[in-house]
Amino acid sequence: MKYEKIIIANWKMNLGFNQSIDTAKELHLLLEKNDIGDKKQVVICPSFLSIYDLSKVLSGSMIALGAQDVFYEAKGAFTGEVSSENLHQAGCQFVIVGHSERRAMGETDEEVGKKTRAVLQYDMTPIVCVGEKLDQRKKAQTEEVISNQVKKALSEVEPGQYFILAYEPVWAISTSGSGQTITASEAAKQIELIKNAIPNHLRDFDIIYGGSVNASTVKDFTKNFAGVLVGSASLEAKGFFELIKNS
Ligand code: PGA
Repeated sequence: MKYEKIIIANWKMNLGFNQSIDTAKELHLLLEKNDIGDKKQVVICPSFLSIYDLSKVLSGSMIALGAQDVFYEAKGAFTGEVSSENLHQAGCQFVIVGHSERRAMGETDEEVGKKTRAVLQYDMTPIVCVGEKLDQRKKAQTEEVISNQVKKALSEVEPGQYFILAYEPVWAISTSGSGQTITASEAAKQIELIKNAIPNHLRDFDIIYGGSVNASTVKDFTKNFAGVLVGSASLEAKGFFELIKNS
């Protein structure tokens, strides 16, 4: 385990440019004024467009920057895509790959593997999302789905390269529309399954949880997980600060 706790905000396509700057500044001030210990790693993943400016706003703060996606090729005729090198140059240290919302738009396990490799090539940390959908859970396919996703995502990772795996049951994400959440103890049951799917030569990783985490529930999840990936409850600085404090 590299950090005491890792708290990652995934702002998705929710905050505009100015709102992103204001929210990041407010969070930065709250973290500066209140001692939450120096071992928690806080990461904000804003829209691509806000990354570069946020890197200036947050320089010297305890908040690191992440991207919500990346393209796996280094350069070329890939209209609309953003490379790992560009993200690195803009100030990113982390990149989410394989989020279920991207998988729902057609991203394959193979692409997630290539994206993971591309992120590591630029010494950034991939946050690889895995998790079953509701119908897969109902058909008792959870184990098969997760271990398949983990194996394919990590197929090109080399020994000594650090990565984060985020277990996100798709149906438990606040905006999934299922209306359901998972208990922390049920989520924790998947930790062993995920560990077992990680190839033996890869030992440098942390496993975090994501899906409807808020300031009141975060502690239940961080008892067993190394951290959390937070969507809705990360959009407002004060609320997210409370969540970080409680983690
Ligand atoms: P949520 O989103 O916290 O709003 O459930 C988590 C995620 O999609 O990463």
